[in-house]
Amino acid sequence: MTSTPTVGIVGAGQLARMMIEAATPLDIPIRLLAASPTDGAARIWPHVDIGLPKSTEDLHRFAQTCDVITFDHELVNLDAIRELEAAGKLVYPSSNSLLHAQDKLHQRTAFEALGLPIPPYRAVVTTEDITAFAADHGWPVVAKAQRDGYDGRGVWVLDGPDDAAQLTADAATNGVKLLAERFVPIQQELAGLIARRPGGEFVTYPIVETVQRNGICHEVLVPAPVSEPIRRRAEELTVAVAEATGVVGIMALELFLADGELLINEIATRPHNSGHFSIEATATSQFENHLRAVIDWPLGSTRLRSPAAVMANLLGRGQNDVSPGVRSALTADDSEVHIHLYGKESRDGRKIGHVTALGDDLDQTRRRATKAAEELMVTTA
Ligand SMILES: Nc1ncnc2c1ncn2[C@@H]1O[C@H](COP(=O)(O)OP(=O)(O)O)[C@@H](O)[C@H]1O
Ligand SMILES: [Mg+2]
Repeated sequence: MTSTPTVGIVGAGQLARMMIEAATPLDIPIRLLAASPTDGAARIWPHVDIGLPKSTEDLHRFAQTCDVITFDHELVNLDAIRELEAAGKLVYPSSNSLLHAQDKLHQRTAFEALGLPIPPYRAVVTTEDITAFAADHGWPVVAKAQRDGYDGRGVWVLDGPDDAAQLTADAATNGVKLLAERFVPIQQELAGLIARRPGGEFVTYPIVETVQRNGICHEVLVPAPVSEPIRRRAEELTVAVAEATGVVGIMALELFLADGELLINEIATRPHNSGHFSIEATATSQFENHLRAVIDWPLGSTRLRSPAAVMANLLGRGQNDVSPGVRSALTADDSEVHIHLYGKESRDGRKIGHVTALGDDLDQTRRRATKAAEELMVTTA
């Protein structure tokens, strides 16, 4: 290919929207497969096919208009993706890489076989399966949907057999497959981020701390306030997992620090919430490096532009409108606080935007990010 390849993004949420923002200065042609014209990225972009990521027909039709296929999320029809690969279409990340992100049980089985550190787990169906797991590992037990979970939807902390009975009954009714996992006494949650080209060349981003509440990421602290050996180990695991899963594009590795050791929680094979800070805080954003990786262009530097950065998510509170808050957040006269709104309708707990503050030290930067996020979230009647 001599001219710049056309990248087709399956899904049109905020990640696709931020990929478009990164593609524009480099004039990388982008097409979107959006479920609805009101999706965050579809609202700002003319080159949109309307179709479903689970529909073979929609995926095949869309693929004909693109040179490379990539993803905004992993909830796609993998059989259709495999057919595209068999027909010679470039798909990054590949169906094999994507399966790890799509299926938590597959991921754990693969990581266990590789000898990577993960919490003890077991596929479970019945209440007895869970109580047997608890007999080995104690209560509480963390139960997870094997597929389709995100932002803590699909994660349950079970305190005893009654909780387990309720969950297994609900799961059977809804056709949800479960796994049980040991409850980890988490000291800190960390994330590693890597961009990798088809030939294996890669760059890693600084290791970050993610602050989660109720299974959803609220803040990201950069660089992670951890010891040098932990930072190095987190980076080593990020590279090892990216190589083992053969991921092309961005991969994020979510990690738990517990009892002074790192355990792998899960991976995402696409740009990730824990990397949004990179838009302003590093020389090359995760979105730009994702695109550069999937079209096999040279990757950009991930050097930090400031000693500290904090990203705070804007999480919907009912149907609140953030637009009135933008003005007051902007007049706060803090030119190193950057606002990103995703053009999504607000719902309780939904990620509708984020802010990133840059600064000299983590505590002060965190206060500024929190203040800006609060100003934006002021609820209007
Ligand atoms: N085994 C565990 N022990 C304790 N907390 C956990 C465990 N697994 C997940 N969590 C908490 O729930 C959050 C969401 O879990 P995760 O498996 O990452 O689901 P999701 O796909 O929704 O991101 C984690 O970031 C962590 O805060
Ligand atoms: Mg997670």
